[in-house]
Amino acid sequence: MVKAGLEDVVASDSSICNVDGKEGRLIYQGYDIHDLAQHSSFEEVVYLLWNGRLPTQTEFDTLCKDLKENRALPAAVLKMMRDFPKTAQPMEVLRTAASMLSMYDADDLENDRAANLRKAVRLTSQIPTIVAYWDCIRNGRPTPEPLTQGNLAANFLYMLTGKKPDELSVRSLDIALILHADHELNASTFAARVAAATLTDMHSAIVAAIGALKGPLHGGANQEVIKMLLEIGELSNAEPYLTRAFEEHKKIMGFGHRVYKTEDPRAWHLRKMSEELGRLKGQLKWFEISRAIEEKVFREKHLYCNVDFYSASVYYMLDIPIDLFTPIFAISRMSGWAAHVLEQYSNNRLIRPRAEYTGPNNLQYQSLDKR
Ligand code: ACO
Repeated sequence: MVKAGLEDVVASDSSICNVDGKEGRLIYQGYDIHDLAQHSSFEEVVYLLWNGRLPTQTEFDTLCKDLKENRALPAAVLKMMRDFPKTAQPMEVLRTAASMLSMYDADDLENDRAANLRKAVRLTSQIPTIVAYWDCIRNGRPTPEPLTQGNLAANFLYMLTGKKPDELSVRSLDIALILHADHELNASTFAARVAAATLTDMHSAIVAAIGALKGPLHGGANQEVIKMLLEIGELSNAEPYLTRAFEEHKKIMGFGHRVYKTEDPRAWHLRKMSEELGRLKGQLKWFEISRAIEEKVFREKHLYCNVDFYSASVYYMLDIPIDLFTPIFAISRMSGWAAHVLEQYSNNRLIRPRAEYTGPNNLQYQSLDKR
């Protein structure tokens, strides 16, 4: 009998990311996530994931320059986005626009590592622009030219709001991007690797990944968490809300994980950020409600929260629209997807598993008039 959901099946060798579900450790290319979240920047992590080591100052400066120079979208993609229905979900827009980008990519027909690194740079820079611009377009706001200065987090917040973001918001988002950058063979990364293993192009692999991330059991969970927090509304409602949810056998979004059997190390940072932002912005109640939920879910179900749980209140306090939460996950995870696509290409074999056949045998065809 096949294990449902390929649980614990090792499907690939990889040097990019190690998730130790027993000890609650997450390692990118040898570096502990706690170390990276405290000391590095998202751009450094991007370099690390793609190259297997941290950059020198010159390498870092070159990557940052390349990323900054590739923030603009091809005019045709922007024009098409303006014609999308204003009701389109940001993840639908992202999936469609990311797919369009390949037609305008200077390396469209190339599939060597150098060309794929250039594609990865462009996609990493253009995805935040798609997400921010869609919010401008659907709300009838002008689309600001991307900044020529500042890191990816600062530029994204600027493009989203049209205003220079404060330092705390930039650093909070930067840390969130570091924490979400990679996570071994999660569903969207596996989708990207399966696509890449056919030797299709990087854009196709990324589009497959975006589609997988969108689901509420994966990246879509952070949006469901904030909807729950808003529905609860006040700390005193948390306990009865959960009691009812348990009675109705509902899944509590932002809890449980296929690999972690202890605390998700990313949650530690996001919990801390949620509390700090709450105090600074005078909105501590979202942290307090989250904490109450976390305690009750652990007490009664022995489930730990995952990365999506506290990221919800963090993004909410950064004034990010709720349906952009999952696209922000994509902005970050783009770096990990690209790392895995590059790794897949570097030692490729078609990924083609088998299914255990459970259907009927030896049926005789009958013509339509006899059925
Ligand atoms: N709330 C309530 N019960 C839960 C939850 C939850 N969030 N998660 C798991 N359980 C229970 C299940 O009901 C099941 O109980 P049972 O054995 O009595 O039927 C048991 O724990 C095992 O759960 P599965 O869903 O089989 O675990 P699986 O490994 O397949 O799924 C998943 C992991 C999808 C993350 C699951 O925990 C879940 O649906 N969580 C909510 C959605 C979520 O937060 N997704 C984000 C994951 S992290 C990420 O993608 C970035």
